[in-house]
Amino acid sequence: MASRQRTCEGQGAPPIAVQPGDLSDLRDVMHVMEAAFPETYGEAWNHHQCRSMLLMPSAKLLVARKTDSICGFVISRQAADEEELLMIAVSPEYQSQGVGYLLLDHMFRVARKDQVSAVFLEMRTDNPAAKLYEKFGFRKIGLRKDYYTGPNKEKFNATTYKTSLND
Ligand SMILES: CC(C)(COP(=O)(O)OP(=O)(O)OC[C@H]1O[C@@H](n2cnc3c(N)ncnc32)[C@H](O)[C@@H]1OP(=O)(O)O)[C@@H](O)C(=O)NCCC(=O)NCCS
Repeated sequence: MASRQRTCEGQGAPPIAVQPGDLSDLRDVMHVMEAAFPETYGEAWNHHQCRSMLLMPSAKLLVARKTDSICGFVISRQAADEEELLMIAVSPEYQSQGVGYLLLDHMFRVARKDQVSAVFLEMRTDNPAAKLYEKFGFRKIGLRKDYYTGPNKEKFNATTYKTSLND
């Protein structure tokens, strides 16, 4: 994936840096998660789910930091030469400024360095984030019926996507 110039920094504004994160970032990550995901679809993780995932040795967390605060994050997990993109979110006030793109671009660089050949993800069918994923070559490969459960027990399908890093 060719890198491209993004516009997430206004003139004179502090730059956004994408860096590896760890459990000490959990509180800020949850802050972004809770603000970014609509409650309706049951896509977001709670504190316990997020902590459990970050404790796994195969989990990778990248955070987008502006000055001292975290404005976005991506969590993935590697198994052999495959990686699963588990969760990405950007605080609403920073959305549509290229932060999500920066996070994925960074995640892909790390994945290539770690010998990953394919990345998979599951996303709620109809989530507009599909536009972002398509920019990284993700293509639909399957459907999981009733994968997400909303707060009122409504069910929502998920679409599985894959992209290859060797093409
Ligand atoms: C999905 C998300 C992480 C994208 O972050 P972002 O910082 O707003 O994305 P970017 O500004 O880097 O967008 C990059 C490109 O993807 C497109 N895109 C990203 N999110 C989009 C959305 N929700 N709707 C439409 N297009 C979107 C943008 O149009 C942009 O394309 P452009 O440069 O041609 O205009 C953010 O919208 C978010 O946190 N959503 C809520 C959580 C979520 O649904 N996560 C995904 C499921 S795990």
